[in-house]
Amino acid sequence: MRWNRWSCILVFIFAISLGAGSMAAEDTPCNSNADCDNDEYCSKENKCEDSDDDDDDDDKEVLGMDGEDLGSGALFLLIATVMIAVWKPTFKWLRKNGSEYFNVEPRDFKRKLGVYNRKFMKVHNYIGFGCVVVGTIHGYFLEWHWTLWAAMLGLWILVISGSLMQWRWPPKKMRKGARLLHLQRTITIIAIVLLLVGHGIVD
Ligand code: HEM
Repeated sequence: MRWNRWSCILVFIFAISLGAGSMAAEDTPCNSNADCDNDEYCSKENKCEDSDDDDDDDDKEVLGMDGEDLGSGALFLLIATVMIAVWKPTFKWLRKNGSEYFNVEPRDFKRKLGVYNRKFMKVHNYIGFGCVVVGTIHGYFLEWHWTLWAAMLGLWILVISGSLMQWRWPPKKMRKGARLLHLQRTITIIAIVLLLVGHGIVD
């Protein structure tokens, strides 16, 4: 993987946001409710805790499913979609060295690898689209922060650019632009960082 300047900056922001999140999660010691903030109470363990832990949002249902379950589904689909960043270099390595490594006939091995790659790509396309639809529904019914909207916008840009690459009708120039946009990983990384930061804020 090539580490450009953006990747380094984003990993840095991610590390800082994780640090900030864990610092915010530390409980303040207390003797009575007066020692805690407005939206907190003093627990039996003498620590200030959120009084709105039982947020109404958690109970919202969409098509008979819990809003938070949809979030877990979207997360699972996102991880499955992003697996392509692991598969692509593995595929390239296998195409170059696989037949020698496994001591098998090169032409047959490359043909089977190509079939598997096409299947993988199909799964990436459908699951990527599913992830963004489920994620948007999940977010629509729960609490939203601008970071989460921005992340979803980034993911929709990936879905649209990914689709433009696949369709035949867009002019060649447009498809080339879509490919450039989709394959450089900046949007993917920014979207994932924003999702992590946003969920840290609304949780
Ligand atoms: C959550 C949404 C999505 C994310 C985060 C995402 C992310 C990525 C990333 C990071 C790559 C680069 C892999 C690499 O070369 O190392 C990639 C490749 C690709 N994506 Fe997506 N993608 C998404 C949705 C889609 C959709 C909906 C489609 C099509 C309908 C699509 C089509 C493609 C194609 C065709 C490639 C491979 C191009 C090539 O190597 O020739 N993607 N995607």
